[in-house]
Amino acid sequence: MCPPVHFDVTYAINPWMNPAKPVDVPLALAQWEDLRDRYRSLGHSVEELTPRPGLPDMVFAANGATVVDGRVLGARFAYPQREPEARAHLEWFRARGYGRIHEAEHVNEGEGDFVVTGSYLLAGRGFRASPLSHGEAQEFFGRPVIGLDLVDPRYYHLDTALAVLDEDTDDVMYHPPAFSPGSREVLRRLFPDALTATAEDAAAMGLNAVSDGLHVLLPQEAAGLFDPLRERGFVPVGVDLGELLKGGGSVKCCTQELRGPAPA
Ligand code: ARG
Repeated sequence: MCPPVHFDVTYAINPWMNPAKPVDVPLALAQWEDLRDRYRSLGHSVEELTPRPGLPDMVFAANGATVVDGRVLGARFAYPQREPEARAHLEWFRARGYGRIHEAEHVNEGEGDFVVTGSYLLAGRGFRASPLSHGEAQEFFGRPVIGLDLVDPRYYHLDTALAVLDEDTDDVMYHPPAFSPGSREVLRRLFPDALTATAEDAAAMGLNAVSDGLHVLLPQEAAGLFDPLRERGFVPVGVDLGELLKGGGSVKCCTQELRGPAPA
């Protein structure tokens, strides 16, 4: 995670961003600290990346790399404003002793468009990631990549439209209208029992969630997801990341998952 010390909305690269709307940095920081502390109180360790001035979106750490089986696929951002973030992440992994690092050739924004389930690497395309990044990721991770076409600009990254609830059982939740008809059919085939989110809960960024297999951290405004999650045996944990939503991100965007093994 990366604290939103330099968070701001100075450009608009997704429909949530409005540079005319002021941002309250102390509030953003307090909300972010609350999310970090909740992870820690649930027993998860959280590493902090040093924020850099001039990179107002750096708080959205999920976009900086994708880590699976201890292998690190670097990011390559679609817009020049975020481009230097990729290097900051790579430097962190190098300093930590990660041995298997691949610098991306094709545009991919980390876990924004790569979502890891137990069986697959789901890969979004349409707004940010290049379709060519899908093959690059499959080759590097040796996991089957399932390409999914995003069609609604509000859900410009796959992680704004779909979340993994349980990696072991391939349990997911998603918002069907964010996907093309063919991709919807693919999702129905792969995940016939998935939880589908309403337009209202999706618009509250409810799918930008992080699950540890039991607790599901999600924006508190996505209230319609709470009972369906409980019925499936999950414990929903609502968090307020209202300031960061002005940048077009919430819980998952702020969280890059380091899937082990970690370097010795
Ligand atoms: N303002 C950022 C952008 O548009 C938000 C990134 C959100 N991150 C995510 N994982 N969906 O690039």
